[in-house]
Amino acid sequence: MSSTFQTEVVREGKTSVVVPKLEAYIGKTRKYAPSKAPVFYNPVMKLNRDVAVLALQAYQRMVGKEISLCEPLTGCGIRGIRLATEVEDVRRVVLNDINSEAANLARFNIERSGLTNRFLVANEDANLLLSRYAAPLKRFDYVDIDPFGSPVPYIDSAIRALRNGGLLALTATDMAPLCGVYPKACVRKYGGKPLRTEYCHELAVRLLVGCLTVVAAKHEIGISVVFTHSTDHYIRAYAIIHYGAKKADTSIQRMGHILHCFSCLHREPCEGIFSILKRDCPECGSKLNSAGPLWLGNLFDEKFCALMEKEMEEKGRGQDKKIVRLFSLARNEVYGPLTYYVVDKVCDKLNLPVPPLVEVVDGLRKAGFQSTLTHFASRGIRTDASAKAVNEVITKLAA
Ligand SMILES: C[S@@+](CC[C@H](N)C(=O)[O-])C[C@H]1O[C@@H](n2cnc3c(N)ncnc32)[C@H](O)[C@@H]1O
Ligand SMILES: [Zn+2]
Repeated sequence: MSSTFQTEVVREGKTSVVVPKLEAYIGKTRKYAPSKAPVFYNPVMKLNRDVAVLALQAYQRMVGKEISLCEPLTGCGIRGIRLATEVEDVRRVVLNDINSEAANLARFNIERSGLTNRFLVANEDANLLLSRYAAPLKRFDYVDIDPFGSPVPYIDSAIRALRNGGLLALTATDMAPLCGVYPKACVRKYGGKPLRTEYCHELAVRLLVGCLTVVAAKHEIGISVVFTHSTDHYIRAYAIIHYGAKKADTSIQRMGHILHCFSCLHREPCEGIFSILKRDCPECGSKLNSAGPLWLGNLFDEKFCALMEKEMEEKGRGQDKKIVRLFSLARNEVYGPLTYYVVDKVCDKLNLPVPPLVEVVDGLRKAGFQSTLTHFASRGIRTDASAKAVNEVITKLAA
């Protein structure tokens, strides 16, 4: 390929692609800065793509037929190419990027992988492209929105371009708004208020899914969340869409708020988008803060998680520590209660030394509570114990 920039070959999964030469685009931290490269490629997002491969394979097994997919913000094309080569029975792939150099490189990578027959590469705005596929028989089984920052500008057209029962994957990297550093930006983009709590990454996922729920409902479409994760600097959500006003109503019923007390760490859900929110903490009387409206429903589907784990083994990824850890933690979170406590934060409040995490998990279980680790935070414990009960267990352990 004759390009105006230096390139190199990288390998991910079974796929090798040409990308901008990483060492030629160094940012302030003297590390490779993907945003400086003429075409986007971020090696840090490999896990995101690995999980996408397993999620799409799990989905393909579920539907048991040939599938079509669209990645309308593709960069160098690595995600789309990986999905087409690593997932069985992918029949049709449409890739697109508004940057002409990216579209050209994606085309080149497709030819280089000998995949031309199944692929179409476009060079236009993602919403224009998706809208063109928003018609019966044209729609996709899978749409993967992996943008810079927020996926919200593309959710509406992605939903319209998905068939009934299709799978939507969303990445969001705008963690500052979603985690409450810029709350106004979060309200603007996601239509929900974030909170800077220790479980803000879970809230971020719930705000993203909440936004998806509301956008889908406009089209009389409901959603079921099959998998979510928060990794490195991004969050990711996978949801299946279901046509029907009743399905949309059911999804909307899973929306609500999470109330949080910054004094004693008490938290509680409050169901319903329009419900009247409690003002005072029932535990200590301090003023309660709220996050939402957001998704209060499940963040994982047990069967889908099991299918993904099976595919991980079958595709020989069972040695990949990061994926194994993510899946085994997620499996335990499937039926877990909302939010988690970060042990260090509790100990900080109580002015106590931090006990080993496993001892707190055990202590809570012995006290009769549900208690498990969470993939959202390495020091987090997902439990149905009240803040007071968590304090008691930790205080006892410290003594
Ligand atoms: C984060 S990168 C995509 C990375 C890619 N999904 C991957 O896994 O490697 C986002 C891409 O979206 C493209 N982009 C930005 N705005 C767009 C728009 N409105 N329509 C289509 N592509 C757009 C950028 O040129 C960039 O290549
Ligand atoms: Zn309180």
